[in-house]
Amino acid sequence: ERQIWLTRHGESTDNVIGRIGGDAPLSKSGRKYGACLSRFIYTQKKLFRQKQLEKYRGFSGSSTPLPEPPERNFLVWTSILKRTVETAENFDPKEFDIMHIRFLNEIYAGLCEEMTYQEIEKSYPEEYNARKNNKLYYRYPGMGGESYLDVIHRVNPLIIELERMTDNIMVITHRVVLRILLAYFLDVEKEKVPNMDVPLHTIYCLQPKPYGTELTKWKYDD
Ligand code: F6P
Repeated sequence: ERQIWLTRHGESTDNVIGRIGGDAPLSKSGRKYGACLSRFIYTQKKLFRQKQLEKYRGFSGSSTPLPEPPERNFLVWTSILKRTVETAENFDPKEFDIMHIRFLNEIYAGLCEEMTYQEIEKSYPEEYNARKNNKLYYRYPGMGGESYLDVIHRVNPLIIELERMTDNIMVITHRVVLRILLAYFLDVEKEKVPNMDVPLHTIYCLQPKPYGTELTKWKYDD
């Protein structure tokens, strides 16, 4: 039994004004979410350990007790963008193995980086409509611009790693990457991925089981 925890970063200052992409820091509310998230996950880590020990004690009724099983590693992965790195800032490195991974970055919007959807619609109406009509295949114009399919390909090695690992993990990432990770574990069709509802300040816990993945969701109330 293991747990894969997923969330988006806390609210950024760009989220507040509706700008996409970029590398903005957290807003005040986003920083509060980061602090609560680390406390919540720390409690969940302790609960998991308790359950592990209870299970083990259930098996070792003999007069010569066996040594306790080692506590499972708990990893924290973020992207390399400020908003996810700052969300992880309160995680204690003595309790969690923290790593920042470029593959977890948000979809790169090329020419449209740091614009609002309204600005894109006004400056590049054809691009705006092309995306609206086919969000999955649409690739943002300009150097490095990505599509959902591009992001699916870049995230794939991490999905393989998540499947393989036995550690517990918290992944702090972005809207598009979170949709892709959830869709993979919950068997959502590719066509539906770009419109999945994945609000900020929500925590998802996935527990892979032999016949599918169990999902639990928590919403953080500010
Ligand atoms: O607005 C936050 C954000 O993560 C942007 O950086 C990103 O471009 C967007 O969401 C992705 O969502 P959608 O694919 O629905 O436009």
